[in-house]
Amino acid sequence: MQTDLRGRDMITTQEWTDDEIWTVLDIAFELKRKRALGEPHAVLRDKVLTMLFFYSSTRTRASFEAGMAQLGGHAMFIESRTTQIAHGDTAKEIGEILGRYSDGIAIRNVDWEQGNRYIREVAEASRVPVLNMQCDFYHPFQVLADLLTIIENFGRNLRGKTINISWAYTSSYQKPLSVPQSLVLLMTRFGMNVRLTRPPEYQLMPEIIEQATENAHKSRGSFEVLDDFDDGFTGADIVYPKSWGASLTTTDDAESAAIGQKYANWICDEQRMGLAAKHAIYMHCLPADRGIEVADAVIDGSHSRVYDEAENRMHAQKAVMALTMR
Ligand code: CP
Repeated sequence: MQTDLRGRDMITTQEWTDDEIWTVLDIAFELKRKRALGEPHAVLRDKVLTMLFFYSSTRTRASFEAGMAQLGGHAMFIESRTTQIAHGDTAKEIGEILGRYSDGIAIRNVDWEQGNRYIREVAEASRVPVLNMQCDFYHPFQVLADLLTIIENFGRNLRGKTINISWAYTSSYQKPLSVPQSLVLLMTRFGMNVRLTRPPEYQLMPEIIEQATENAHKSRGSFEVLDDFDDGFTGADIVYPKSWGASLTTTDDAESAAIGQKYANWICDEQRMGLAAKHAIYMHCLPADRGIEVADAVIDGSHSRVYDEAENRMHAQKAVMALTMR
């Protein structure tokens, strides 16, 4: 267990060692246990988290706010559009100034080829830890919550388990690459067989694929890329089909939507779930496009773990805040 994580940024799990990730998981389970028993755990009394959102949220905002209150502190909600950022406040100024008011700065900025850069610029200028609430490249707290959920279902030894991280169709909007990219980066570190299943136009960033390949090699697991929706499901223990945009093929939303229509049958329905292992669990970070990305019978069915994932967001975030913002 690592006990010296005070001041550390969480921008991607890839920048935290295996030991540090296990520390987060262990503390998250401990804080979840304490909450279940009603045991007080106000380890961040009088501390303030500033949350700066450039993009909408349900779970992230609510779980950070609730988590910070349970830790005895306060979470301050700021939307970029109600700030002076549009009138000139720079990332450096935001880091300097918000870092002087608070004990942690959390940011969501998913603008393609801007979000991660912005968060890193704030972190560079900030005297307090910066937490990535989702950028264009990564969604670290989502995948930490997902890993907690997987461990709750399959135990701590995940070696040999097969997870299928798959693209699925949507007609609503072009979603960021951050969830699938963070999933392949984290899940390849535990000896699992990790599948990335996607149509050819829905590539992830080449450096992410390289890092995931290296992670799988180091953990003596495997990492393969498939392009057939059904093959991805076959025999999998964990299925995680969700949509993302064709950002590496086109930055034009209309063109991306037109490409997606070619794969409108990539919906996770009961027939697809039937290809997975009998005990398979269905995961999704939410929001999901019901009837398009996933059938109601699956997301509301016995394989689904989506509400546990959403709950575990709070426990994972509390663990990282407690460790970094002391
Ligand atoms: N999964 C997730 O990040 O949800 P929100 O966009 O609602 O925060």
